[in-house]
Amino acid sequence: MSKQFDVIVIGGGPGGYIAAIRAAQLGKNVACVDEWKNTKGGPAPGGTCTNVGCIPSKALLQSSEHFEQASHHFADHGIEVKGLSMDAAKMVARKDAVVKQNNDGILYLFKKNKVSFFHGRASFVKAVDGGYEIKVAGASDEILVGQQIIVATGSNARALPGAPFDENLVLSNTGALAVTSVPKKLGLIGSGVIGLEMGSVWRRLGAEVTILEGLPDFLGAVDQQIAKEAQKAFVKQGLKIELGVKVGEVKVGKKGVSVAWVNAKGEAQTLDVDKLIVSIGRVPNTIGLNAEAVGLQLDERGAIVVDGDCKTNLPGVWAVGDVVRGPMLAHKAEEEGVAVAERIAGQHGHVNFNTIPWVIYTSPEIAWVGRTEQQLKKDGVAYKAGTFPFLANGRARALGDTTGMVKMLADATTDEILGVHIVGPMASELIAECVVAMEFRASSEDIARVCHAHPSLSESTKEAALAVDKRTLNF
Ligand code: NAI
Repeated sequence: MSKQFDVIVIGGGPGGYIAAIRAAQLGKNVACVDEWKNTKGGPAPGGTCTNVGCIPSKALLQSSEHFEQASHHFADHGIEVKGLSMDAAKMVARKDAVVKQNNDGILYLFKKNKVSFFHGRASFVKAVDGGYEIKVAGASDEILVGQQIIVATGSNARALPGAPFDENLVLSNTGALAVTSVPKKLGLIGSGVIGLEMGSVWRRLGAEVTILEGLPDFLGAVDQQIAKEAQKAFVKQGLKIELGVKVGEVKVGKKGVSVAWVNAKGEAQTLDVDKLIVSIGRVPNTIGLNAEAVGLQLDERGAIVVDGDCKTNLPGVWAVGDVVRGPMLAHKAEEEGVAVAERIAGQHGHVNFNTIPWVIYTSPEIAWVGRTEQQLKKDGVAYKAGTFPFLANGRARALGDTTGMVKMLADATTDEILGVHIVGPMASELIAECVVAMEFRASSEDIARVCHAHPSLSESTKEAALAVDKRTLNF
C-alpha cells in the first residue's frame, strides 16, 4: 500500500526542508525524503549546506581564525601566547559535532511540524490519478504518492576534466572539509567562493596555498573596487593567487598532485602540491531522480527547467534551489522553498531576486547586495557612489580590524539604493541592513538619516550613505 501525501519534497537541504516545514505550517500533509547518511549510516538531513558546505566551512573558518588571531594578533592586545599548537583532527571533530547538531535540529523540526521524514533516495515512478508515484529506496523500499512534488535535489561539485575527485588527493568541498592534518603545500583551482574560503582555512593553519584562476579579473562578479581591496588583503596574508591561467594536465601521484598550467604571460608552469582542491563551480543534481519516467524537462546543463514561480513543465511538480537556475545559495533555495509551499497553499509567495545577498566568509569578509558599479555602467544607469573606510570607524579601530570599506551606489536622480558592497569585519552581518533598505526601496538619504548605535561597525554604512551626498562626518 502506498502512503498518500498532499506534498512530497525530494531533498532535505535548505530548499527542501524549509519548503516541507512551510507546507506543513500551512496545513498540508507533507513528506520529505532525503538520502544523506552520517558516518553511522543514519539520516543526516540538511544537504550540502549542512553536511559539506556552509555550516562545516564556517566551523573550520572560525577555528582557523582563532589560531590566526592567537598566532599573530593577540600580542597587539598584550596577550602573550607560548607553545601554541594546532590539532587539526580535533578541529575537524568539532566541525563534525556542529554538523550533527544541525542534522538533529532538522529532524527535531520535522517532528515538531509533523513532517513525515523518509531516509532514502527518491525517484519518480509514474504519474497517477491526481499526482505522482515516488519510490523511496532506503533501508526498506517504500512507495509514496504525492499530489504535489517539490524537487530540491541540490548540486554536485564540478570536476576538472581528466582529474576525478578521489577525496584524498584531489578534493571537492567534501574532501576539503575532512582533511585532518595541515598539508604543506595546497593547490586550489578556481578562486571563487569555495577556493577563497578553503584557501583561507588552510593558509591560516600554515599551508603554503596557491590558487589558480582561469579568469583575468579577481572575483569578476564582485564590485571591482571591493575585489581589488580584498585581493590586496589576501595577498598580504600570504595567499598566492594566479589570475588568467590555463590549467592543463593534472597528474595524481601516490603522495601528491602535479598540475601543469600556463600563466597569463603564456609561460608553461608546474604546481606540485600535497593536495589539490578543485572549486570550479557546481552542477545541478538530478542523478537517480528518474526525471525521464515522467517527462520532467531538464536544460543542457542538467538543471530542471522552471519558470519565475519555480513551476516545472509538469502540473503539480515544482523545483527549487541549486537544481534550478539562479545563484547556488542556501538562502535563495530557502526563499524559493517558502514561496512554493505558499503557492501550493493558494497564497502568493514571492522571491525578490534583486535583493539576494552574497557573502564570502574570508577575513576580511566580502558581502554585497544589488548591482555593482561595473553593472550599472553596462546598464547605462546614472549613479552616485559613496565609500567609507573602516579605518575611520571607531569600533573597527578598537577591534583592531580596519581593513576594507562600505561602498553604496544610489540612483543619480531618485537616490534609490541600487547596490551596497562591503569588504571588512562582519560584512556578513552588516549587509542585512542594506538588504532591508533595498527591499523597502530606500534612498541613501534614508540610511543617512537613521540613528546607528555608536560605536558600531554599522556606522560605516551610514557614513557611506552620507558619502553618496559628499558629506561624511568622520572622514
Ligand atoms: P564559483 O562559481 O564561486 O567559483 C568558481 C571559480 O572557478 C570561478 O572564479 C571560475 O572562473 C573558476 N574556474 C572555472 N573553471 C576553471 C578552470 N578550468 N580553471 C581555472 N579556474 C576555473 O564556484 P565554487 O567556489 O566552486 O562554489 C560553488 C558554489 O557554491 C557557488 O555557486 C557558490 O555560490 C556556492 N558557495 C557559496 C558559499 C557562500 O555563500 N559563502 C560558500 C561556498 C560555496
